[in-house]
Amino acid sequence: MTNTHAILGLMLGSGYGTLPEAWRAPGVNPDNYADIEANIRYAQTAERGGFSFLFVPDFPGVRGDVEHTGVPSVMEPITALTAIAQATSRIGFVATGSTTFQEPFNTARQFKALDVMGHGRAGWNAVTTSDPTVAANYGQGVADRSERYQRAHETIQIVQALWGSWEQDAWVKDAATGQYLDPAKLRPVNLQGQYVASRGPLPIPPSEQGQPVVFSAGGPSPHMLELAGRYASGFIAEVWTIEEGRAQREMVREAARAAGRDPDEIKYFTGLMTTVAPTVRKGLDRRIALSGDVRESRIPHLGAMLGLRLDPARFDEPPTAAELAAAHASPLDPRSSVALAVAREGWSVRDILAHGVIDYHPTVVGPPERHADHLQEWLEAGAADGFWIMPDIYEDGLPAFVDQVVPLLHERGVYPQDYVGSTLRENLGVPHQYGLDPRLG
Ligand SMILES: Cc1cc2nc3c(=O)[nH]c(=O)nc-3n(C[C@H](O)[C@H](O)[C@H](O)COP(=O)(O)O)c2cc1C
Repeated sequence: MTNTHAILGLMLGSGYGTLPEAWRAPGVNPDNYADIEANIRYAQTAERGGFSFLFVPDFPGVRGDVEHTGVPSVMEPITALTAIAQATSRIGFVATGSTTFQEPFNTARQFKALDVMGHGRAGWNAVTTSDPTVAANYGQGVADRSERYQRAHETIQIVQALWGSWEQDAWVKDAATGQYLDPAKLRPVNLQGQYVASRGPLPIPPSEQGQPVVFSAGGPSPHMLELAGRYASGFIAEVWTIEEGRAQREMVREAARAAGRDPDEIKYFTGLMTTVAPTVRKGLDRRIALSGDVRESRIPHLGAMLGLRLDPARFDEPPTAAELAAAHASPLDPRSSVALAVAREGWSVRDILAHGVIDYHPTVVGPPERHADHLQEWLEAGAADGFWIMPDIYEDGLPAFVDQVVPLLHERGVYPQDYVGSTLRENLGVPHQYGLDPRLG
């Protein structure tokens, strides 16, 4: 089962880009992290490109190399998206919210309010938060997986029940009779789990799409697949090859089937990191200029991926013919086959790294056609229903994608000319839902 039209999302982070030092790129204002106008500008550009949603990851805490690379996430997803909602009209917004550290009533309230204010464009990426730095900010450690997932099942069910607790025709608004609301249609949920509970009801009316769309993000562990299969309408994935994408997408679809749902109700998104440039050489130079990605300290990692001992003194030379003949893709790292293919094109070790072969997602560097080829190949191979796009530097890399890659996708007939509808559900092609899914029992 493959799709003929791709759905695009944009990963929205701190306001700079996914290259580690994008904040200091030419033309980028280092103030962007604290300036919502930057993210509003990117959301509007993505909307111009017909993107269905913004995906806002969230790891609330200080992680990674903040001294040099900055903070990778927005300051706070819900407040940021509330501002963005006011400055856009079609693009949806999928914010990350923890099922481990947030009370379901808070989550239900914030996301439904965002959905109503944005006229049916909100989604909730429900994550089980396994990061110890984040856990510590809530005064806790990381609980074991079974406990976190049990809490996640309970939380999502309570959130969805609260979303449905204001029935769709509860709001009477009859000034003549003086009846504002039918109290029989604003009902408590009275749910008590092992970890979380709520009485309800939640005093927020339905949005144009009923309620927010639930997403999952992660790998294909049995716990994750069961959770996504039951509740998610979107799955944000991390895979490097078409084969991996096809296999994982099928696992996600099977999980939906096992939960009694139609597998087409869950859309599978793989990541793509982009550097749009007139030539591959110019794209590599753009990435090397920021250096963060291309460091000598990464040579041993690349060597391990290729089964070689690469000499740091030969950073600017390609691996020798003898080395390439001996090279093989390490089975321990799924990115290795991509790294080997790039190495065999004859690039220097520095340039191989600049291709993003050790990045978190597949990376395309170079002309717009290369980007369109990647998206089309993955789509037509059944390896994705859509993609979450991560530009190297938002300020110019996102407009380059929208103005140069999107028209190619249109020409090739693999991307809709315009938004399908006005809500996130319509643009994703997932069914209406209000309250709990009655099929889940
Ligand atoms: C593409 C992708 C995006 C993710 N985004 C987030 C995120 O924004 N916040 C978060 O806490 N975890 C995020 N995660 C982590 C997963 O939700 C999950 O917690 C992690 O894979 C650990 O799995 P576990 O909870 O099954 O142990 C992401 C994972 C992937 C693969």
